[in-house]
Amino acid sequence: MCGIVGAISKNKNILPILITGLKNLEYRGYDSAGIAYLKNKKIKITKVAGKVTNLSSKLNKEDTSTVGIAHTRWATHGSANSINAHPHKVNHITIVHNGIIENFKELKEMLISLNYKFKSTTDTEVAAALLDFYYDKFKDINKTITEFMKNVKGSYAISMLIDNDLESIYVLKKESPLIIGTANNMNIIASDIRAILKYTNKYFILDDFEYAKISTDDITIYNKDQNIINKKLNIYQDKDDNTSKGNYKHYMLKEIMDQKDTILNTALPFIEKGIISILNMPDLTKYSKIDIVGCGTAYHAGLVAKYLFRELTNTKCDVYLASEYRYENNFLNKDVLTIFISQSGETADTIAALKLVKEKACPTLGIINVKNSTMTYLVDTCLYTKAGSEIAVASTKAYTAQVTLLALLVLSHGYRNKTISKSKTLQIIDEFNNINKLITPLLKQKERYIKIANSIYKEENIFYIGRGLDYAFSMEGALKLKEISYIHSEAYAAGELKHGTISLIKKNTPVLCSATNDKLNSKTISNLKEVIARGAKVYLITNNNYEDESFSIINIPKTSDFIKTILVIIPYQLIAYYTADLRGTDIDKPKNLAKSVTVE
Ligand code: F6R
Repeated sequence: MCGIVGAISKNKNILPILITGLKNLEYRGYDSAGIAYLKNKKIKITKVAGKVTNLSSKLNKEDTSTVGIAHTRWATHGSANSINAHPHKVNHITIVHNGIIENFKELKEMLISLNYKFKSTTDTEVAAALLDFYYDKFKDINKTITEFMKNVKGSYAISMLIDNDLESIYVLKKESPLIIGTANNMNIIASDIRAILKYTNKYFILDDFEYAKISTDDITIYNKDQNIINKKLNIYQDKDDNTSKGNYKHYMLKEIMDQKDTILNTALPFIEKGIISILNMPDLTKYSKIDIVGCGTAYHAGLVAKYLFRELTNTKCDVYLASEYRYENNFLNKDVLTIFISQSGETADTIAALKLVKEKACPTLGIINVKNSTMTYLVDTCLYTKAGSEIAVASTKAYTAQVTLLALLVLSHGYRNKTISKSKTLQIIDEFNNINKLITPLLKQKERYIKIANSIYKEENIFYIGRGLDYAFSMEGALKLKEISYIHSEAYAAGELKHGTISLIKKNTPVLCSATNDKLNSKTISNLKEVIARGAKVYLITNNNYEDESFSIINIPKTSDFIKTILVIIPYQLIAYYTADLRGTDIDKPKNLAKSVTVE
């Protein structure tokens, strides 16, 4: 959720490097920001509430430094103000921290009894005090860090400066990501590759319970037994990854438009040579059941796959929210494949659920976007979505890439278990090859979406309804709208509305609906009539030729269910985008949200 960057150099001024790094990480957390750097042989700390620009304008423009650590925060313990912002300095120790110290209350009480005083309400200041306590006690940094690791529960990526050793940065990690990059004349640490890519693509990944001492010309990495270890130097190579906003007003709009490339890029390895390519997908026929786990939008992609597995390949499949799954009785066995879906590959609940399945030695498959992220190392098999970097907090192109991979996984399974014939498989592969012809007209109907946005943007409650797959699309559509426009929007199974929620429908309440299933459409249309009878204004996405003046209709082309899963969401994404734009919200960085949810 938060972002860490730190740098040390013999002769470079690292302050602009830290600020640029923080700006590149700001999509992960932006409640407050702070920096600690060496100035006249002392540590100087500046912290602000709000965004990184507030921090850079507060810095003394004359200052330069060769060692520093910086942080952008998404508040967990205590509100988002400059006191709670990181870095936190306690006596000799200055730290920035990502993660949550779960036993911070007990530790704080113990430290208070030892006369430590606290200024903030954060768990991070407690971590700084504990490190200071051990450092004072052992006078040895290795012992300090390993003792800290033994006694702290929870997750942390910590970057630390020590008053007595200001020619080094120390880092330690458990469950929150941390990398150490080597650049010309500089070593640079970060919680995310994006912070350092401008300076280097060479980096070490720290694993849980490892720590490191980083100086201008050396990186020494240790395990929890204080032994020096050799780690692989990774090289990040993703030349196609374009992270610029181009001429678009927001990253979100650019990323929605990117989908004409990202969907095909994701599909290509599994379609370009017809049946041979579809067989590049892992063989699922040996499993008795498929479970799917994810959070938010990734969970919604899982819901789509559940319908496809069950309805089209007669395969048992369930979907779980990772935050629930990890505390439930999951009836795991070795015949059940669990698929983990994640854009970031760093979501704390999804990682915890994945670890749980691994502990039971049951098979796992990841559908992940960010290369080298934590989950990619934990899953048995990883299928990469090729969405490229997704900067906007609201997920769009990662979702369609997830749905694309899942649809092709289902298709390959259906072909293998003979529930989908060879000719049908070839027909669907052909549809995937032509996906751009189907998507582009939907991406181009800007005026249409703006018109709908104009008629709903002042509302405070909006409902999304659908049946079957259309219910899954409704959930994603409603999430997109609420997270960026702050309009309360809820998705309901169309048939469920009259079991309570219909009491909220009044004159002009907007109801957005998708009806794209020939078997269920007439029932969904009846549900629409019910809300229209109560005054609702209705917007319908459909692949049927309805002519009904009581609806405003967006037509999508008639395709197989596999492609439909990609098409329906595009109008929903663009309606959400233009609605939020009319409300003037911070679309790429909605309040209270973070791109990568690395705390439970
Ligand atoms: C919504 C959104 C979130 C994420 C969720 C999981 O637009 O982006 O709901 O989908 O936090 O994140 P990942 O996919 O990184 O595990």
